[in-house]
Amino acid sequence: MTQEELFKKLIAHCKEYGFIFPSSEIYDGLGAVYDYGQNGVELKNNIKRYWWDSMVKLNENIVGIDAAIFMHPRTWEASGHVAAFNDPLIDNKDSKKRYRADVLIEDWMAKQDEKIQKEVDKARKRFGDAFDEEQYLATSPRVADIAAKRDAVHKRFADALNNSDLAELKQIILDCEVVCPISGTRNWTDVRQFNLMFSTQMGSTAEGANTIYLRPETAQGIFVNFLNVQKTGRMKLPFGIAQIGKAFRNEIVARQFIFRMREFEQMEMQFFVRPGTEMEWWNKWKETRMAWHRALGFGDDNYRFHDHDKLAHYANAATDVEYNFPFGFKEVEGIHSRTDFDLSNHQKFSGKKIQYFDPETNESYVPYVVETSIGVDRMFLQVMSAAYTEEKLEGGDQRVVLKFPAALAPVKVAVLPLVKKDGMPEVARKIVDELKYDYNVVYDEKDSVGKRYRRQDAVGTPFCVTVDGQTLEDGTVTIRHRDTMAQERVTVEELRRRVDEECSYRKLFKKLSL
Ligand code: GAP
Repeated sequence: MTQEELFKKLIAHCKEYGFIFPSSEIYDGLGAVYDYGQNGVELKNNIKRYWWDSMVKLNENIVGIDAAIFMHPRTWEASGHVAAFNDPLIDNKDSKKRYRADVLIEDWMAKQDEKIQKEVDKARKRFGDAFDEEQYLATSPRVADIAAKRDAVHKRFADALNNSDLAELKQIILDCEVVCPISGTRNWTDVRQFNLMFSTQMGSTAEGANTIYLRPETAQGIFVNFLNVQKTGRMKLPFGIAQIGKAFRNEIVARQFIFRMREFEQMEMQFFVRPGTEMEWWNKWKETRMAWHRALGFGDDNYRFHDHDKLAHYANAATDVEYNFPFGFKEVEGIHSRTDFDLSNHQKFSGKKIQYFDPETNESYVPYVVETSIGVDRMFLQVMSAAYTEEKLEGGDQRVVLKFPAALAPVKVAVLPLVKKDGMPEVARKIVDELKYDYNVVYDEKDSVGKRYRRQDAVGTPFCVTVDGQTLEDGTVTIRHRDTMAQERVTVEELRRRVDEECSYRKLFKKLSL
């Protein structure tokens, strides 16, 4: 199965099992907007809890807030979003399709990497066991040629982005002979800038109305509340403010399912530090955030850092945590050193002093900021992509199983009476009633036990518990483990202990060694 086929199956699975539906589907959907279903919302809430607790509960010097989506319009002038929150877009004149110029060039560069990989694979086949990949990469003239072309384009691309040189972006697209995937032609328009913010009106009459924006990042709600939190919480630098909330961007090209949406959710933490210490904290947060991802056990090799070619208007250092999705390594999280750009500008635009008095140095100053910013939906896609597994079973059967870390699983336990009689449903219901105060638990008595196991595998339930004749005699139940399919008999008390141990966030948090 190709990665593309796998991704299609994953999308279909998300719909079939109540994880994600297209928004307003009965009206044929709305581009790049999605709804989360009964299992999706549980998984999403669990991801949010993993993030929130790891920030706010595990760090004494990080607190949370929940700011409004609507903000004073001057906020977005101060933050630079009105002037600079743009994507470079280009149209193909034949297909009339619109693309992001930077994405077309990035895709071209990724293709060169794929070409190099193909050369390596071919050589490996040719040389067999004697193959030395490092030596081959260093000496193959063909690889050197592709890499040189890619690096030259990369340099031109980074320069063009940093100088906002739209003509050069178009020239790179022409020089790389990038064709429109729909029309197959190179008939491109010029590159233009496109602001990504959605605007709307606030006020009851058109004349009195103010244009306001749907926030494109949650971060500004934190910056404008810096003094409120610092003063009321008597916070001392360094300290952080965390927030989870919706953000909106009018993405030109919305692609890859929930990877790039127009309405999405962010989990952002702004960490305020003394000027001059920001690079030290930036490196620390890079490490901390990578550990958070890796604790989920999806394979360390599936993550990498990618430093930005073009720094955002507010940053002096920026890197992305990338995950190896079925469509390649892509950004899940950004870690940015935002300097004092935001607080200084809010000070300037609002006319209010936004400073911190440092009792250690006896000075007042505008703090510097290190930000960690991760998309809930992208994290959801990462977890789904990592968990989705197709397995061939003995006897020719096949199953689809979502191997979620137990703490994130939407349903923790399914309780299944073997038959719908002889008092088994009553005992099963009693087990559900005991567990439901702490966990999302389901009761299922329909179809054969085998079919019920498959249904639970497909939504990633770590434990299936069967109540049978023996349960009525000695109070023991059968636990069936999702990943190994191994079964064992335990008492109801032992079941409770196992669920507590496996499904607790503590297991994940311990790996973070905070
Ligand atoms: N406050 C900084 C900020 O917003 P960003 O790199 O533009 O930085 C941070 O976004 C994260 O938000 C990304 O790493 C990604 O996970 C998520 N994100 C951004 N745009 C998104 C979109 N259109 N759809 C889904 N997630 C998005």
